[in-house]
Amino acid sequence: MSDQRTFDRRAFGTLAGSLAGALAATAVAGPALAQTQGSGGAATGPSRATAAGGQPFADLIQDHRQISQMLQKMATLTDSQERQRDVKQLKTLLTAHAVAEENALYPALQTIADSEEEAQEAYEEHALMKVHLFEVEMAAMTGEDWEGKVKQLTRTITEHVEEEESEIFPRMQKQLEASQLQMIEQQVQMNKQMVG
Ligand SMILES: [Fe+2]
Ligand SMILES: [Fe+2]
Repeated sequence: MSDQRTFDRRAFGTLAGSLAGALAATAVAGPALAQTQGSGGAATGPSRATAAGGQPFADLIQDHRQISQMLQKMATLTDSQERQRDVKQLKTLLTAHAVAEENALYPALQTIADSEEEAQEAYEEHALMKVHLFEVEMAAMTGEDWEGKVKQLTRTITEHVEEEESEIFPRMQKQLEASQLQMIEQQVQMNKQMVG
């Protein structure tokens, strides 16, 4: 049992090596990315990514709130141009957020004991979210069932976010070491910048 709960560091190391690549190496030298989230002088070593506010989760939770607000506003829109403009904004934010989680967070989740299935489900939920986002995009252009499609996307996202915030994030926060969380945070930021 204790070894079931033990984090497979070798697997994480391999994974992180392939994902982080040069970024992990530059972390030691104090890259600009390490200073996001106000870690400031903490860029001198991975082991110092301690209780700086639940990195990388605080950043992702902030995205969740912003996405939720955008969806609430979208539900009230009646003008086609405004709908299309807001869908575009939402798509940019959602894509950056999803890519960051898919490339940086979920691979690490997959290496934690008993979490492989959870990681696979998260990928599947993102896939469904993209389908529903596409339907909202179409509805913005055609005007057909806008409210229904926004509602559907909102439900999909809300359920997924609830799972992340109540189960996935706390589990990762608990089982990963501070240095690993700091590396994930750097990868999250890097992936977001690639998209945004
Ligand atoms: Fe997610
Ligand atoms: Fe998320």
